[in-house]
Amino acid sequence: MKTTFVKIFAFLIATVSIYSYVGQLVPQFEEYPPEKKVITVSTPPAELAAIGEELVRVKGGCLICHKVTETGNVRGPDLRKAAGQAGTRKPGMDAEAYLTESLVEPNAFLVPGYPKMMPSAIKPPANMNLAEVKAIIAYLQTLGGAEVTVKIAAADIKAAKAAGPVHKGKEAMGTHGCIGCHKIEGDGGEVGPELTKVGAGRTAQELLTKIVEPSVWTTPNYPAGVMPAELGKAIPEGERHEIVAYLMGLSGKPYSPTGAESPWSHEGVRLGLVILIFNLGMLAALAIAARCEKRREAT
Ligand code: HEC
Ligand code: HEC
Repeated sequence: MKTTFVKIFAFLIATVSIYSYVGQLVPQFEEYPPEKKVITVSTPPAELAAIGEELVRVKGGCLICHKVTETGNVRGPDLRKAAGQAGTRKPGMDAEAYLTESLVEPNAFLVPGYPKMMPSAIKPPANMNLAEVKAIIAYLQTLGGAEVTVKIAAADIKAAKAAGPVHKGKEAMGTHGCIGCHKIEGDGGEVGPELTKVGAGRTAQELLTKIVEPSVWTTPNYPAGVMPAELGKAIPEGERHEIVAYLMGLSGKPYSPTGAESPWSHEGVRLGLVILIFNLGMLAALAIAARCEKRREAT
């Protein structure tokens, strides 16, 4: 009898280990937000430029329109030249001031040959604070081969702390370039329809589908085939849910990103699965015990 119990115990341990292992395999939503490097008054220029590069690539969504290498988008001017030309763009305005203005108030001066389309870096969705704008300028200066002249002031840091948190979905729409084509809450492009109230007439599932499969419907009076399908597919699932949660929320329709369509990301189903595996383990253990008992009786 004693060995039977040891066996059952060992079996249970094995079962629990397997279930823990399976639990690890189940895809999890990504953690938000990514680790943030803090800008201080004493951040060295090279580090400031590195933070700026990250901001241009990720949070700023700048590469939707600009390029910083040989290949990339040309909706806006090549950013490798921006710092070099900045001093000559507006008579009487120095390079740093011009770069600041072109980020904070892009429509104050339009580079000849380009349309009015760049959203302000300090407004949603990029929602940069002044310290971040300066980090981007440091990066642009480095990119143009110039010396970094921007300095972070204590006031920039203070202003940064006062800014409130931004909805993750809103941030994701900026990062992935939706805002380049869509206006939302007053900011963004006009290639596609305004999305502030899109949640009112749509379900969360419809919006999730539209993001990965833009051909699912075409908004009246807009051209089909402009919204890029590969863009949505490249967005991590968790962020797509955040975008939809944000869009639905603007129309007062709460949508919980963790209550996702995929059964694997649903907490309830996950728990159910774990309990099922555990119970199967128990049943198997009992069956083994019964068999051992029988064998013993036979001898
Ligand atoms: C939706 C497209 C779009 C996005 C997104 C965008 N820009 Fe622009 N940007 C433009 C266009 C178009 C111009 C040229 C017209 C103008 O001056 O506003 C421009 C101009 C500029 C200029 C002036 C360049 C020069 O040679 O004078 C800078 C600097 C710049 N952008 C930086 C950025 C940065 C940094 C970001 C990200 C925070 C960004 N842009 C996001 C479209 C965009
Ligand atoms: C290159 C421009 C472009 C980009 C980038 C873009 N869209 Fe669109 N989008 C459009 C156009 C044009 C339409 C209207 C035609 C259509 O329905 O395909 C549209 C339509 C939509 C609609 C339907 C609106 C309605 O009222 O029917 C939604 C929702 C939407 N886009 C969401 C997004 C989201 C979210 C992103 C970012 C992941 C995004 N779009 C990126 C151009 C774009």
